[in-house]
Amino acid sequence: MFKTETIEKRIDELLEKMTLEEKIGQLYQSGISPVGGFEISIQEAEQLLEAGRIGRKEYERLVNAASFDEREDMIRKGTVGSFIGVQNPEHANHLQRIAVEESRLGIPLIFGLDVVHGHRTVFPSPIAEACTFNDELFEKSAEIAAREASEDGINWTFAPMVDVSRDPRWGRVVEGPGEDTYLASRFAAAKVRGFQGDDLSVEDRICACVKHFAAYGACEGGRDYNTVDMSEAKLREVYLPPFAAAVKAGAATLMPAFNDINGSPCTTNKWLLNDYLRDELGFDGFLISDAHGIQECVFHGTAETPADAAEQAIKAGCDMDMGCEYYTDCLPQLLEEGRVSMDEIDRAVRNILRIKMACGLFEHPYVQKPEKSSKLCAEHRDVARDIADRSIVLLKNDGVLPLKADQKVLVVGYFGDKRNEMLGAWVISGREEDAISLTDALKEENIDFDFVPCIDSSITSMTLDKEQLEDALRNTKADTVIALVGESSFTTGEAQSKSKLELIGGQTEMLRMIKAAGKKLVTLLINGRPLAIPQEAEMSDAMVECWQLGIEAGHAMYDVIYGKYNPSGRLSMTFPQNSGSCPMYYNHMNTGRPASDGPWASKYRDCPYTPVFPFGWGLSYTEYDYSNLTVKTECDKLVISADITNIGNMEGEETVQVYIHRRRASHTRPVRELKAYKKVYLQPGETEKVTVELSRNELGYYNNEPRYITEESMFDIFVAHDSTGGLHSEIYF
Ligand code: GLC
Repeated sequence: MFKTETIEKRIDELLEKMTLEEKIGQLYQSGISPVGGFEISIQEAEQLLEAGRIGRKEYERLVNAASFDEREDMIRKGTVGSFIGVQNPEHANHLQRIAVEESRLGIPLIFGLDVVHGHRTVFPSPIAEACTFNDELFEKSAEIAAREASEDGINWTFAPMVDVSRDPRWGRVVEGPGEDTYLASRFAAAKVRGFQGDDLSVEDRICACVKHFAAYGACEGGRDYNTVDMSEAKLREVYLPPFAAAVKAGAATLMPAFNDINGSPCTTNKWLLNDYLRDELGFDGFLISDAHGIQECVFHGTAETPADAAEQAIKAGCDMDMGCEYYTDCLPQLLEEGRVSMDEIDRAVRNILRIKMACGLFEHPYVQKPEKSSKLCAEHRDVARDIADRSIVLLKNDGVLPLKADQKVLVVGYFGDKRNEMLGAWVISGREEDAISLTDALKEENIDFDFVPCIDSSITSMTLDKEQLEDALRNTKADTVIALVGESSFTTGEAQSKSKLELIGGQTEMLRMIKAAGKKLVTLLINGRPLAIPQEAEMSDAMVECWQLGIEAGHAMYDVIYGKYNPSGRLSMTFPQNSGSCPMYYNHMNTGRPASDGPWASKYRDCPYTPVFPFGWGLSYTEYDYSNLTVKTECDKLVISADITNIGNMEGEETVQVYIHRRRASHTRPVRELKAYKKVYLQPGETEKVTVELSRNELGYYNNEPRYITEESMFDIFVAHDSTGGLHSEIYF
């Protein structure tokens, strides 16, 4: 990917000149503060000090000199190679000028930031965007994010997050593409293309950093940072493919995950970071630890001292240290003691310099202010609205939707006017004032509505004001109520695992009171993970999954519930009956006693064994008919085709999903596996033939050795609207 004779020669020449201190400096990324690069309060600094996450020296610096960056001397001495958290061009150029013009060798800095789903133009959270099943949009939003971030001096984003996860108790499902490996792999490749383009040195492109490598989404119990234990076969089948797809698409960097895999922390896992990633996949970019990830190996217990952690990490292939200075503090001594070789240090420096050169940072280190900023421009907002429209999933509709523009409605719920709740998790540069709430959009469209929040603004209790609701229901002339319920975006994302997926506070009671008052109930879910909402779905006349849709949230919710856009989203994750049913996912094994209505079956006796809403689910205001399924073999490929007809009276977009089930294998196989999806846009009455080809290699699996097996088998083939139904055929292949 990035290795060329010219670049490697340039690196050799530079390495020759570098002192040990300058080499180790390239391996250190500093933050403006020690916690992932964000300004922190004195209280947080004190907590960090007490927790041993920072030393007294760092604490003093934070407390006394947060307003300016003491690290300027470090830059002059060449003992820092990168910053996280710088997000304005003047600050970036100020620090860069010191590096390029005042340090001995003038090696430029590389600036990183978490630009996960947009920079100033904030797009839907990834779990929502994945519901579009639209690779072009995955790529487009990343391209726009790169254009806006690069204006602010950012050359590198810690995204895409491509952790497959089957357990919504894990708060970070919001940051990723959901439960399916195939969808996550297409998402990963599209994001790398969008962020990086074909040439990293082009001004408005930035390096991707694919994370968290690997299997972080399989943390036991859905509990963040928890241990991960699985066979290599499962690791290779479910969790590694999105990273392989990203590397194949040319990813410049990766970030090892906090968790261990089978007892070996990813940060110091040589098989993962070197043997699999570099020797098997041919990756030639660089790896940066997650925040303090090297230090955390001491907490994991696999490293007794900071020196052990530094030695294990550099030997495993973790090139850059985000934030804990273990390389800075320990590598000189480790080299002296012969525990680490100069070659191992040079290898890490070489990987980092290779990407800095590929970015053209040596030739154009400074960010040029564009004549006209692209941030929040009309084109970007239009794309954000389009993606938000398509991320919405119509879960249930008894006909109450779409609403008519002239009908009066009552809007209730905490989220109705909360712009800041529309942005989602991991939003650093997005601003509340840029976002549109539902009530903003209804006002713009002159809809006749009343808004009564009824729920207090405490995001951890969400207490219902019954009197306020009773008054509103008694006094309104509206026969339809739009109720917004869910979870605050501030309780989703990192370190936000939950043991309960049910709605908190009085939200369910609010829905119940609305129904008891004889009103039509349109429930909009505002959430960052699948919630356990069987009873709420039951009592709603319509239910719409609105996730965290970004700055255009209100416009998109209006577009869908008023029929300006025919909903086309399909769920990227399964909605379980309750927390106790987790993990629940579509591509599960059949077991020897498949779940059924009978007594002796693999299920819980106190709740249904089917999900409330399955992976791939989503309704439309029209209807699609699937017919004429044919499956045949041609030149050692499976050729699958079917006719899709819009049999309703509204144009719309359908996501045709192709699943297989392998009947013969020496290893248990999922009841279904998504192997392809295609979008079709159909006018009423229109039919389109959708054809998909699958190679033998795409139908293989890993046995316990693990070895990849592509033996012949009878296959079930499904061409479907979601992961439960569809046309079925079988073929021996
Ligand atoms: C965090 C996250 C990671 C993020 C990093 C820098 O702890 O795990 O996803 O990129 O710190 O902010």
